[in-house]
Amino acid sequence: MGYAHAHRWTNPTLRHTPINGERYTAPEFMEQEWDHIWSKVWLLVAWATDIENPGDYAIEDIGAESFITMRQNDGSIKVFANQCPYRGGRLILKSEGNFDAIVCPHCRTTWSLDGNPTSASGVCLNQFRSDSIAGFVFMTMNETAPTLQEYLGPVWDDWGRYKSEDWVRTSAATVAVDCNWKVPQDNSCESYHLPTVHPQGEYWIEHDYKQCVFDWCDEGHNRMAIQMGAPARSLKNKDLRIDDQLASMLTPWGLDPNDFAGHEYDTRLALQRAKRKQAESRGYRIGELEDDQLTDAYHYNIFPNVTISFAGCEYVSMQRMRPHPQNPEKCFYDNFTFGAKGSESDAELDGLGGKEWLHEGKDRQFFTYGERLMNRRIADQDLSIVVGQQLGLGSRGFAGATLAKQEHRVQRFHEVIDQFLESTN
Ligand code: FES
Ligand SMILES: [Fe+2]
Repeated sequence: MGYAHAHRWTNPTLRHTPINGERYTAPEFMEQEWDHIWSKVWLLVAWATDIENPGDYAIEDIGAESFITMRQNDGSIKVFANQCPYRGGRLILKSEGNFDAIVCPHCRTTWSLDGNPTSASGVCLNQFRSDSIAGFVFMTMNETAPTLQEYLGPVWDDWGRYKSEDWVRTSAATVAVDCNWKVPQDNSCESYHLPTVHPQGEYWIEHDYKQCVFDWCDEGHNRMAIQMGAPARSLKNKDLRIDDQLASMLTPWGLDPNDFAGHEYDTRLALQRAKRKQAESRGYRIGELEDDQLTDAYHYNIFPNVTISFAGCEYVSMQRMRPHPQNPEKCFYDNFTFGAKGSESDAELDGLGGKEWLHEGKDRQFFTYGERLMNRRIADQDLSIVVGQQLGLGSRGFAGATLAKQEHRVQRFHEVIDQFLESTN
């Protein structure tokens, strides 16, 4: 019986610098972020199993930059600028696919998968440093950045235990939203909003923010552990029961919801025991996971723009907030989910909470906020508040954020931004 959060992070002292509205609206602030953050950090650009075969590629735009992440013939991964070195145009516009070679649409100059020109006198594609952990492929434009392992600090070991390198994509949505990229990331740095924005989770995830265990590390990232697989404590003297969603988490593991009538809070430990017993023979690799990681949500805010949530041993979801190339009051919000090998059956997908993790298939959907839903209820609920927040942050009536202790991670996020802005490197 163990807790992954027993190994606490360093939790460096906060400076409590003010968080004002200009950080979300001012073009000057956006420019500083370009000069001091985006060009310096490691950025998440792809998921390894989305580019499994030689020639498979993924395109990701971050502000004015665009990157090609390309699987090589030897199985390694390289990241290139998605830009013709001759005249500067984009080389690839489609977000993912497979090519035998990279061809400039303007003059048909051709590069092999490794970025070398096929003609002897040609120019190589501009290549960036890249590295992977747990299936997530990162790159950096900064030649003097630390290694990815150094950059991620304690996150590196935490993620390594999930053995998620071969997990497969179950949904992918990209939504153009009228808010600064930091607004959704701020919200991912606190769990205050669970009972208000995600009230339906009360029957299977702990809603009391005081029960969350959270940390932040010297490297600039945050972690939060939330118990899952049992009703919230707030239901104790109310309508305590096993709802359909919690039942759908129990049955794939051979647990009968009726057996828990009168002792509903035992479901989480029963699930942990059942998974410990059955998971390996069903294709999961849980040998290095602590018991609480078998059921609970482990939620990571990776500086600057990614939030990764491992949910039990079955799932991981990725939220990424990408800045708009010109407008600080717009961003692109990506929400991808990946399922463990062994969780491919619908029963087990449903077992992670039915509609909360609804999979629409591998194809990535692109749309503008308001046109349609992602059909991931939690993600749709999260986006439902950000446009209103942006409007308020740009108003004279906002004198700066007032944060409570649970929101220390929001404070910490902004202080890490300030550290980067102050850096002369
Ligand atoms: S513009 Fe790309 S090769 Fe000429
Ligand atoms: Fe949320």
